[in-house]
Amino acid sequence: APRPDDVAAIVSAHLHLEGPLLPILHAFQTEYGCVPENVRPAIAAALNITAAELHGVMSFYHDFRDMPAGRHVLKICRAEACQSVGSDDLAASALARLGVEWHGTTQDGAVTVEPVYCLGLCACAPAVMIDGKVRGRMDAARLDAVLDEVRT
Ligand code: FES
Repeated sequence: APRPDDVAAIVSAHLHLEGPLLPILHAFQTEYGCVPENVRPAIAAALNITAAELHGVMSFYHDFRDMPAGRHVLKICRAEACQSVGSDDLAASALARLGVEWHGTTQDGAVTVEPVYCLGLCACAPAVMIDGKVRGRMDAARLDAVLDEVRT
């Protein structure tokens, strides 16, 4: 966990910027893999914003995590084209197999599962992204194979 001195150093390194909030959040994300809950009051205080405002920004951008991600990140598309060809079932089966909820990470730290809203691969729906690589025409069996592949 970040020490108070480190938190203060990250925050003050960006305070001179116009619009320091996003650079500060990115700096924590880079340094710790997330923006831990316990550093947020210091960020909000330094920028003179409320906890709710900070939370609003963090949820708007989706880039900022509460906890570090697993070694692999699986994003499953939940937008319309993918939903119309079964991405809900695909997601349910993947979540059940991994034993996690959305945004959760498997106990071995291998895989984090996140929803995403269109990967630009609607013509090959349902689509997923694993470690930044998109894959189309997914079904439960193919997704299992992809997960086995990255976990070995
Ligand atoms: Fe899923 Fe576009 S809706 S890729």
